[in-house]
Amino acid sequence: MKNPMKSEKINHSAKWSPESWTTKPAKHLPVYNDPDELTAVTEILKNYPPLVFAGEARKLKRNIAKAAAGEAFLLQAGDCAESFAEFHPNNIRDTFRVILQMAIVMTFASGMPIIKLGRIAGQFAKPRSEDSETRNGVTLSSYKGDIINGIEFTKESRRPDPKRIIQAYNQSAATLNLVRAFAQGGYADLHHVSRWTLDFVRGNPLDERYQELTQRLEQALAFMLAAGITSENSPQIREADFFTSHESLLLPYEQALTRVDSTTGDWYDVSAHFLWIGDRTRQPDGAHVEFLRGVKNPIGVKCGPNLSTDGLLQLLDILNPENDPGRITLISRMGHGKVGEDLPKFIRTVKKEGRIVTWSCDPMHGNTQASSTGYKTREFGNILTEVKNFFAIHHAEGTHAGGVHLELTGQNVTECTGGSCKITEDKLSERYNTHCDPRLNASQALELAFLIADELHTNYKRRRDLAEDELTTEG
Ligand code: PEP
Ligand code: CO
Repeated sequence: MKNPMKSEKINHSAKWSPESWTTKPAKHLPVYNDPDELTAVTEILKNYPPLVFAGEARKLKRNIAKAAAGEAFLLQAGDCAESFAEFHPNNIRDTFRVILQMAIVMTFASGMPIIKLGRIAGQFAKPRSEDSETRNGVTLSSYKGDIINGIEFTKESRRPDPKRIIQAYNQSAATLNLVRAFAQGGYADLHHVSRWTLDFVRGNPLDERYQELTQRLEQALAFMLAAGITSENSPQIREADFFTSHESLLLPYEQALTRVDSTTGDWYDVSAHFLWIGDRTRQPDGAHVEFLRGVKNPIGVKCGPNLSTDGLLQLLDILNPENDPGRITLISRMGHGKVGEDLPKFIRTVKKEGRIVTWSCDPMHGNTQASSTGYKTREFGNILTEVKNFFAIHHAEGTHAGGVHLELTGQNVTECTGGSCKITEDKLSERYNTHCDPRLNASQALELAFLIADELHTNYKRRRDLAEDELTTEG
């Protein structure tokens, strides 16, 4: 089943340690002027508390394994890049809220648990297509995310500054603290969620659909109350499980937050529950793969059109030699024009080799384009097309569409065109606030949730019909 020849060449049986990545070629890491300053910062960080616990990461892994088996669905969403400037409790609340609303819509349609995984509390470092940027004859380092340098186009701001790592850690800790409070302190109680108003979709057809759904939810809750199931006696109604994730890009930060779990003796990267490897840093012999192979968190691998099927198997050999369910989520990001050709190839290869993976669809990163007005944008119709194809392809291949990976915000931004809020290219400049890629706004996010819900509902009906057929045959 394994492909030992291929991985032998790279010798991944070599001993792993949190710093073994430093012996491998690393792409997209900043060069700091003063390495001693970086070391001083990571030494401080090594003594800081973990942001998450290993037991929580294991719980997420078990849930993701269910998504691989078609018994749950993964909703991974949040900012492309968190920023120091947008750090505000209202922004955290709004992102949390829109993800929960999407999850409710999807749970209702699918009859399955929806795993809520934020791109939040650590999503700061960005790979960039160009290492430098030139404006009016001046060339400076590209902006690489607030954990590395500043977005302002000045020499001072664009200089990679290790002190930013501490600020990013502190912001992540405070963000996660609020997210945990929202998830467990009563805010996420289903009774409240059903009453959350959607100011941003007033007068939009989505509003009506959401109101109808919340009425049904209220009826269901009233029924459960009559049966004795209440917020007081049922944490499932009162609380939500909410997990965190980010791209494992800035390896000195990840290394400093990698600790041995005292329960199992295994290494975990405690900067987030789930880490992923970006499409630009997934070289099998590279530093990012080396780092993640040794931590036990559930991990994601971005799969773009440049990945080969052999390359994919090689990555699976290295990152999941035990074929452990829930360990690997393959996040395909082909683009609406390529998904039909590329995704079936990957699915067939993985299936033929008997590998267990959770398939997730990132319909954002293969659909980025420039608007005629010069903005980096994404067209809502293209995003929908990729998602629809993802479901159709999995149905045709007899595999499970296990999740989606989205860039969104709870704010009313104008960054992606289209959707029922009808953002046209000339409106992009109105509220274009992203520090990196264009995000869906709350209305577009909910609209997409309803589309995914329709797909999940079709799958739900198929499962139900199948179960009924089985019963009839047995009878
Ligand atoms: C991202 O998810 O923000 C990203 C950079 O994606 P990718 O690695 O798929 O390009
Ligand atoms: Co992005």
